[in-house]
Amino acid sequence: MKTLLIVFHTHGVKTARMAEAVARGAQAALREAEAEAEVRVVVKRCAEAGPEDLLAADAVILGTPENFGYMSGMLKDFLERVFYPCEGRVEGRPYALFVGAGQDGSGAQSSVERIVTGLRLRKAHEAIVCVKDLTPAIVEACETLGATFAAGLAIGTM
Ligand SMILES: Cc1cc2nc3c(=O)[nH]c(=O)nc-3n(C[C@H](O)[C@H](O)[C@H](O)COP(=O)(O)O)c2cc1C
Repeated sequence: MKTLLIVFHTHGVKTARMAEAVARGAQAALREAEAEAEVRVVVKRCAEAGPEDLLAADAVILGTPENFGYMSGMLKDFLERVFYPCEGRVEGRPYALFVGAGQDGSGAQSSVERIVTGLRLRKAHEAIVCVKDLTPAIVEACETLGATFAAGLAIGTM
């Protein structure tokens, strides 16, 4: 069985809604493909996740609000905790990112991308950055992101 890990942090609501949409899209795609027994979808808050989760994941989707022009402190803490235990052991695994932002989001995106480049994760989808309100279009984009990863793992193209 393969594992799709969704790991995110927020003290608010928007990024959590985005995480729910990513997970919902992944589960729906697996149901539709009757592949629920082939891919496990694991959703964790950054504080609950550690190196063992990343090592066990065949693909990972990270989520964060943008705070002070950067990723949230809790996502940075997660990446700091996993970096050395996972360095050289997760190379080439696909990842994607979603960001809940107030008016920008680019600082959160670039800060995450810089660190995961060090882990040699492979960017498999453009980042979804939600500026201001969470629109139906962004929710749908998050669902599609989850579905793309889950289906890709199920059929072996991810
Ligand atoms: C401490 C703090 C710092 C923030 N800094 C930024 C920022 O640098 N850029 C930005 O676009 N939004 C910034 N925001 C706004 C949040 O990113 C935005 O409200 C986002 O929707 C929060 O998502 P959430 O509901 O998941 O917390 C900041 C919010 C807080 C509380």
